[in-house]
Amino acid sequence: MTPEALWFDPSEILIGGRWQAPAATLGLDSPSTGAEIARIARGSTEEIDAAIAAARAAQAGDWGRMPAVERGRILAKLGALVSENLDTLAALEAADVGKPLRQARADAVGLARYMEFYAGAADKLHGETIPFQDGYTVYTLREPHGVTAHIIPWNYPMQIIGRSVGAALAAGNAAVLKPAEEACLTALAFARLAEEAGLPAGALNVVPGLGAEAGAHLAGHPGIDHVSFTGSVGVGAAIQAAAAANVVPVTLELGGKSPQLVFADADIDAALPFLVGAGVQNAGQTCSAASRILVERRVHDEVLGRMAERYRALRVGPAEADLDVGPLISARQKEIVEGYLAKGADLEAVARGEIVANAPAGGHYVAPTLFAGAAPDHALAQEEIFGPVQVVIPFDDEDEARAIANGTEYGLVAGVWSRDGGRQMRLARALNAGQVFINNYGAGGGIELPFGGVGKSGHGREKGFEALYGFTTLKTVAAHHG
Ligand code: NAI
Ligand code: MG
Repeated sequence: MTPEALWFDPSEILIGGRWQAPAATLGLDSPSTGAEIARIARGSTEEIDAAIAAARAAQAGDWGRMPAVERGRILAKLGALVSENLDTLAALEAADVGKPLRQARADAVGLARYMEFYAGAADKLHGETIPFQDGYTVYTLREPHGVTAHIIPWNYPMQIIGRSVGAALAAGNAAVLKPAEEACLTALAFARLAEEAGLPAGALNVVPGLGAEAGAHLAGHPGIDHVSFTGSVGVGAAIQAAAAANVVPVTLELGGKSPQLVFADADIDAALPFLVGAGVQNAGQTCSAASRILVERRVHDEVLGRMAERYRALRVGPAEADLDVGPLISARQKEIVEGYLAKGADLEAVARGEIVANAPAGGHYVAPTLFAGAAPDHALAQEEIFGPVQVVIPFDDEDEARAIANGTEYGLVAGVWSRDGGRQMRLARALNAGQVFINNYGAGGGIELPFGGVGKSGHGREKGFEALYGFTTLKTVAAHHG
């Protein structure tokens, strides 16, 4: 990381428009080397209390009274500042998360796009009039919840800030953001840019810290009106329970075991980069990673062979080297993924990528691994691994493909590769997922496209216009005038 990239003190927290030293700090490690690169705040319950109070004051003051068009203008300015700082933000994210620089830069571009989108949407969010009985005029008002909590993970900080904080601010909420203890530099950089863009004091407050401390305190705080969380199923359930005590809504995005279904009539040349790319992007630490590839038996060996070729060409190394795959986020994540590789000992490891010889010894590198021969109920075909590991599973017909695809507890994203229009439409309806992609996977990030899961993948929708509905509450006004 260049000194220009870290142009601020990363240990400071933002409360009510004031950057301040935290009561305690934590070390932030580089996934690429294992070395400490910064000290960050270990947010305390008192600091979370103060952040919530500051957000409440902003909501009751300047920020809450600001016309929607002005909120939009500030978000537009913020988007422009993000765009002017793409390289700096990318350098921070690469150093912090360990993702190859190109991928980090794409995330920064995504953050700018979210700001543009929600800037434009801020003054286009409106209620409706409802035809009712004679003598009445009835209409609805879309109002912000008030103070929203954002507990985010380390895998895509910029994208998740964009889709969650961006939408919440556009809708007029004041936000308290608790980034992950493993990666929080771009969250802090974003808040500095927001200040420069003219965001009023208290509209956005940022307190990094541990999940069990700052995170749990925030999720269960009676001063919070909505909780948005992305992360693991267990923590998501705990957050929902904590929010339930205050009877406030939650949005949970909890990852998945997303499949891509490849039929014999598909354009396999077009599919291949997506089949492998969606498995190893961000070292597989992606909520919508395509960790299961289901292939019609007639083309199974061909697809497996061609995926294997791509795996053998994958090079793994430090983020700054900008290779195909970076390290995992932490020693703990590496242990989890290696545990799954061991559980795959009864399968055929068809191909592996290569960790470059000069990768620092302290980094958390794992060679991407492609498995074949997994029964649909095998642990590697059922559980979220969150590493660069994919399983290829054959099927005989559409019914079997659908049953395997739907045969996990999750339902975030699914991909269908086929030229048969009827099959595309049938599967789009039949697959358990919040997003179905036909002859593509991910639509390049698609910040405009509502996103979220069913089943253990969570509930609520982020991204696109739908997020604005989630970050508002609807009031019905019925006026009787005779
Ligand atoms: P995690 O769910 O523990 O952490 C995510 C965020 O929640 C962090 O900001 C953390 O500080 C916070 N948190 C943790 N415990 C909390 C609590 N009790 N109350 C409130 N906030 C809390 O995820 P972790 O440990 O980083 O990764 C474990 C697994 O979770 C991964 O292997 C992966 O399977 C899954 N995961 C899924 C993600 C997704 O994009 N859906 C993102 C990150 C992890
Ligand atoms: Mg955790």
